[in-house]
Amino acid sequence: MKPKTSIKIGLLGLGVVGAGVAQTLLQKGPLFASRTGCTLEIKKILVRDIAKKRGAAVPEALLTMDAEEILGDSEIEIVIELMGGEQPAHDYICRAVSSGKHVVTANKEVLAKHGPELLSMAEAHGVSIFYEASVGGGIPLIAPFRQELIANEIHGIQAIINGTTNYILTKMSQEGLPFDIALKQAQELGYAEADPTNDVEAHDAAYKLSILATLAFRSDVRPADIYREGISRLTPKDFKYAQELGYAIKLLAIGKLNDGAIQVRVHPALVPIDLLLAKVDGVFNAVYVEGDLVGRVLFYGQGAGSLPTSSSVVANVLDLAQSLSTGATPRPNIRLDAPKALLPFGDIRTRYYLRVSVADRPGVLAQIAKVLGDHLISISSFIQKESDESAQTAEIVIMTHLAQESAMLAARTDLEKLTTVYEIGSFIRVEG
Ligand SMILES: NC(=O)c1ccc[n+]([C@@H]2O[C@H](COP(=O)([O-])OP(=O)(O)OC[C@H]3O[C@@H](n4cnc5c(N)ncnc54)[C@H](OP(=O)(O)O)[C@@H]3O)[C@@H](O)[C@H]2O)c1
Repeated sequence: MKPKTSIKIGLLGLGVVGAGVAQTLLQKGPLFASRTGCTLEIKKILVRDIAKKRGAAVPEALLTMDAEEILGDSEIEIVIELMGGEQPAHDYICRAVSSGKHVVTANKEVLAKHGPELLSMAEAHGVSIFYEASVGGGIPLIAPFRQELIANEIHGIQAIINGTTNYILTKMSQEGLPFDIALKQAQELGYAEADPTNDVEAHDAAYKLSILATLAFRSDVRPADIYREGISRLTPKDFKYAQELGYAIKLLAIGKLNDGAIQVRVHPALVPIDLLLAKVDGVFNAVYVEGDLVGRVLFYGQGAGSLPTSSSVVANVLDLAQSLSTGATPRPNIRLDAPKALLPFGDIRTRYYLRVSVADRPGVLAQIAKVLGDHLISISSFIQKESDESAQTAEIVIMTHLAQESAMLAARTDLEKLTTVYEIGSFIRVEG
């Protein structure tokens, strides 16, 4: 390839991240030219509504509502996709790649659902797709998996990768707020969207885990492979009891490789309070990675926001520009190993916390212990938390030792059949 002294860029989207990226590229142009050896010029920016008032100081002449002005322009060599959502972003990325353009994207949904096909397509067309900002906003994660950790067999990932839910859980824990009030506060501060489903039901975290697990285990992991449970059923009581027992409650994205099989799951979990993950509060993200050579590594930082996310997007653009300016071929796209099996969710083994409302009378604990014992589940502690003398009910918290998920679910069904068990109020896995 011929060395370049100037590279033209098409930007798809000028929202939270797009505006940060445009501003960074415009303001730091001379610095980037000296670091990469070529000038970077934004030729066009696609928006949905050209008449919309925008805070970003971007020349109006750059804006267009016609994607063809970017995708059909043979001078544009790098397309930065920052529109979000599956469509039309996926179509536009395919069109850019098939017309020989490199793509930088922050789109976790497209990468999680279509990543391997898009990367093969890019390889066939001799271009790259970079997606550092798709997980962890400003935290370097994709590049370390591609490069610095490549010599490792990764055994596990444990991550807090959704800032919105971590903010809500922090509020519930520190201020004793119910879920809906903490959610409302997050919405007022702009941390949660008007329709919060994607975050609170953990779809967003599952997309990100699918991207991370694919990189970590070098095997194709899709969102549909991931067990997913959101945070909307958690109650202030559980936070209080967890704290008394020495735990925080976090939405964890977990990937593990055991005996050649991958387990991937996103769900609320009790995390021992002395672990660093338990101390990650507010909108911050953290990802623990465990490799056979490196041991445990922690990545921590801002998982969202205009400028932190722009840091990752622009880094990918500069990486491409450095290669193109010298005529070198950009870094190859990631290669996967032979596919690994997925462990059925029922086969995972973990510990469990149960909050159960029972009849306050002799023999009930023995009945519960028998049901659990029949399913080979042993109890590590039984604590009576509250009792209501007039109603003759009591609330107990049970912590188990390691047990198999399928056995635990069967035991739960049998517990619910006991006439002395009124309600299983909470059922939370314990990690760490
Ligand atoms: N926000 C964050 O902190 C963050 C962090 C990490 C990753 N990401 C990812 O970054 C991407 C962008 O997120 P964002 O928060 O910047 O989104 P956003 O604020 O909603 O901005 C989306 C932009 O894309 C344009 N757009 C959307 N659909 C379009 C269409 N069909 N045709 C033309 N233009 C269209 C919008 O145009 P108008 O301006 O005219 O409406 C807007 O400028 C997403 O994939 C997101 O998951 C975001």
